[in-house]
Amino acid sequence: AYQPVTMRPVDVPEETDEGPQKKVTVFFGTQTGTAETFAKAFAEEGKARYDGKVNFKLVDLDDYAAEDEIYEEKLKKEKLAIFCVATYGDGEPTDNAARFFKWFTETLESEGEEKGPWLSHMEYAVFGLGNVQYEHFNKVAKVVDGKLAHYGAVRLVDVGLGDDDKCIEDDFTAWREGLWPILDLKLLDEDVPSTPGAVYTAAIPEYRVEIHDSDSKLHEETYDAKMNGQATYDAQHPCKSVVAVRRELHTPLSDRSCTHLEFDIANTGLRYEAGDHVGVYAENYSEYVEEAARLLGHPLDLVFSLHTDDKMGDALTGGSASLPAPFPGPITLETALTRYADLLSPPKKVTLTTLAAYATDPTEKDRLKFLASLIGKEDYNQYIVKDQRTLLEVMSDFPSVKVPLGVFFAAVSPRLQPRFYSISSSPKFAPKRIHVTCALVVGASASGRVYRGVCSTWMKNAISAEENPAKATASPIFVRTSNFRLPTDPLTPVVMVGPGTGLAPFRGFLQERAAMIDEGEKLGPAVFFFGCRTRKQDYIYEEELAEFVKKGALSELIVAFSREGDVKEYVQHKLTQQASSVWSHLKNGGYMYVCGDAKGMARDVHRTLHTIIQEQESVESSKAEAIVKQMQLDGRYQRDVW
Ligand code: 2AM
Repeated sequence: AYQPVTMRPVDVPEETDEGPQKKVTVFFGTQTGTAETFAKAFAEEGKARYDGKVNFKLVDLDDYAAEDEIYEEKLKKEKLAIFCVATYGDGEPTDNAARFFKWFTETLESEGEEKGPWLSHMEYAVFGLGNVQYEHFNKVAKVVDGKLAHYGAVRLVDVGLGDDDKCIEDDFTAWREGLWPILDLKLLDEDVPSTPGAVYTAAIPEYRVEIHDSDSKLHEETYDAKMNGQATYDAQHPCKSVVAVRRELHTPLSDRSCTHLEFDIANTGLRYEAGDHVGVYAENYSEYVEEAARLLGHPLDLVFSLHTDDKMGDALTGGSASLPAPFPGPITLETALTRYADLLSPPKKVTLTTLAAYATDPTEKDRLKFLASLIGKEDYNQYIVKDQRTLLEVMSDFPSVKVPLGVFFAAVSPRLQPRFYSISSSPKFAPKRIHVTCALVVGASASGRVYRGVCSTWMKNAISAEENPAKATASPIFVRTSNFRLPTDPLTPVVMVGPGTGLAPFRGFLQERAAMIDEGEKLGPAVFFFGCRTRKQDYIYEEELAEFVKKGALSELIVAFSREGDVKEYVQHKLTQQASSVWSHLKNGGYMYVCGDAKGMARDVHRTLHTIIQEQESVESSKAEAIVKQMQLDGRYQRDVW
């Protein structure tokens, strides 16, 4: 029989307001969970380092203060503050940090100057999570770091610029190794024994697992919107939605795949606007789920539940609040793995350390430890990062590792995160549907294995109600409001650039404009630069686009085919060819929109816009730069890039 396991407790003293205990607040701004994991690890390490005598408080920036007014009051009480903040999308803060960031950078702007160095009692350190391939590398961390200093707070170490393009975990390790000795000076005194140079290993978090009879009643998740006057859904309170329509957008001549999906939102109260994003909780591919259960050594139909007591909560959150189980039970292992386990992300070094702890074969144990160590850095970079090895593949490479379920869900498999897509419809055209246009992510990894994107694979394999009403796929979804919006004045000219699935939000915009025409509205010009490989393969929504032109919703459709002629033609080449007409639209107060790949396309288009302005206005590069900046500040140059 399966033996339930209990958590190794970590002793954390109660937090008191006036008590002599020293406190470090560890804030995190997280989107996919990495910043949160880092913050947790930091708090854990701190507790171990100071023998539990320093209170490391982990704070989700979203939960820090219910209203903006309270931020100031609370920040004035923070003496030692650590920030782990990610930069997301086009140099933006993560959703959970957005309100704080806005307050700290904008609301405070004028007030802050009057207040003077109002944070001078605070000492702080910032670690940023970003990717060097993006234009606004670690912008949020840099801004937070700069503002804290500006308001008088004392910087303990330079801002850490974690780069996800390489090994961000190493960046984090290097940053915190620089920080600990400085914190030691602040936090160690006579009653806390100093043990410099010691290796601190935090306890491995673990849920208590209860096994239920196979015929136990399973927990059914509910998807009621939380009610605060009106129904609102968010990542924590998604809305269950059935896939109404699914079709392939590429022709059989294409060797790639792109799915058009329509989520049914009738009778849910879920609302959206053209330009918003939809968050989708996808499910893991069944083959991977079966493999994971096999590696864990349990049958798929095992019924279990996860539990946490207060001590356990402390270990996981680094604070005094207990962390709820990651999903409600009783649940079958199959459902748990399908819905909640991130099986395909490359494992972090701390995960490898955890796996090592459960390896029974000494060779495997040593190899895992080596991969997680500083001297094993090169091997880790090759085996995990370059070869894009998934957690599942690592587990299968080390078959002697048998991780208990309570450890697997607490410390090995991160929680499967929702994926975001630019909505490709307008509520004016499709009030009861949310459309998504999603390219299939599939390919050979560096070492020749097949890699499949979780959500795009799930979408491609979804069964629509149209195909089979009884078996239609359903999934939890929610809407994330964006700033990507058509101009308020319909006469304002718009220039849209969106090759491939970058077309998505513009399909929504064009549906919106078509509906406005039906309502008798007069519209300004709209030009759309689209790009695909060839007319016969991946010219998605070709007929619809032609209809928009016919109707007048679109004044001009300009398509760059990258693989029809001898030379590659991309949207930016077309923009250059149309420089004078593009600039005449934009100069007259027009709006420029770019959607799609941030690393290549959006960066190239940005440069092209800069050149167009420089040439059309006959100005120097710096002046053109200033014009672009101003357009951005005025909200006339909007980007939805990933
Ligand atoms: P390619 O695949 O032939 O390189 C949609 O995916 C279209 O965007 C394709 O035609 C693709 O061309 C093109 N594309 C790829 N990289 C690009 C870049 N840096 N700028 C603009 N378009 C790009």
